Amino acid sequence: MPITPAPESSPFLLPAEFRAAVAQHAQPLAPAAPPPGPLRRSRRAAPLARESARRAARADRLLIADDADGPPPRHVRPRRIARGGVVLLLAVGGALLLGSTAAVTALVSGGGADAAADAQLFSDAPPPVAALPVPVMKQAQVSADICGVPEVMTALEAHDDAAAVTAAGGAEAFRLAVAEGRARCVDLADPTRVWAVINKARPYSPVDYRPTGLVMPDGVRSIEGGALRSDAASALTALVTAAREAGVGEIALESGFRSYQTQEGSYGRQVAQRGQEGADLVSARPGFSEHQSGLAADVVACAGECGSLDDLAASAQGAWIVDHAWEHGWIVRYSEGSTDVTGYSPEPWHLRYIGAELARTYHDGGWTSLEEFFGLEPAPGYVG
Ligand code: DAL
Ligand code: ZN
Repeated sequence: MPITPAPESSPFLLPAEFRAAVAQHAQPLAPAAPPPGPLRRSRRAAPLARESARRAARADRLLIADDADGPPPRHVRPRRIARGGVVLLLAVGGALLLGSTAAVTALVSGGGADAAADAQLFSDAPPPVAALPVPVMKQAQVSADICGVPEVMTALEAHDDAAAVTAAGGAEAFRLAVAEGRARCVDLADPTRVWAVINKARPYSPVDYRPTGLVMPDGVRSIEGGALRSDAASALTALVTAAREAGVGEIALESGFRSYQTQEGSYGRQVAQRGQEGADLVSARPGFSEHQSGLAADVVACAGECGSLDDLAASAQGAWIVDHAWEHGWIVRYSEGSTDVTGYSPEPWHLRYIGAELARTYHDGGWTSLEEFFGLEPAPGYVG
């Protein structure tokens, strides 16, 4: 049974029936039902339409008064009216606690209304709905852990990440649950999951982790002969095919999976060229690279010959990737302006596979880093 978790601060929304019932409660107080003459002392002669509007406004204020700062307004009505109002509000509050809008409706349109109407007979005051104490409606946070959904657990056990996201209520619900700590069964450190977050503060464990099921993507030119995890490989084939069919040209895979040992050599060369500080902006240390998961692909644009990584951004393929990579489950992982979060200079060529649903949500939400997407701390540098 899929669920749709509500936002963090989901206000306890008053049922429409309750609002209607409170408005209805005011009706017996109108002059339409006058009591026997001797008991009736006086009544203001406000036009019915104006009274009705005021009642509605008061009813609204009653129901939203919790939004206002400070204590609720004090009521200075005759004692009998006040007592009737308190009794009614206690009853309404009890009904609300019981969670029954039907019970609330019955209360405000039944005995409670009669008592208030009776009180009105002895007063010159405005309709007693204004005399009612302001109920304080506390916000109730919906905090369902998505791991309580059996289908989520079943999908996780089957290692069907896409099904787990769907069972959680979709990618945005999944993301929000993770970011709010309502997804205890979702391990962002698990490199076998499409939602894994590997960064300078989150190395692999074990540090030389190696994925299974690496394959070469069909129909994609591979410059270094790099493989990808099978789901990422299929998604890269789809991306490259779509770009070609859109007429933007060929996209090739420069670098896919890199083992711990390969990354060691790659990082070492960068340190030799740039020094450690410079290297840390462009290359992950071994045990910290997304390439080690098999879920990252460095791509280049080709027109016969293939360009360099640095050439991609200015190419038609690079522009197409910005707009369309998400449609195939990929995001540009190290984007402009995110170095203080990711720890890396922008890399328009470094694509990361996170699955179609999460990628769509990432794109639609305008996210620029996985850290922010999942509510993690920035990781601009190595810990220790
Ligand atoms: N260039 C990226 C950060 C890596 O080495 O994984
Ligand atoms: Zn890369």
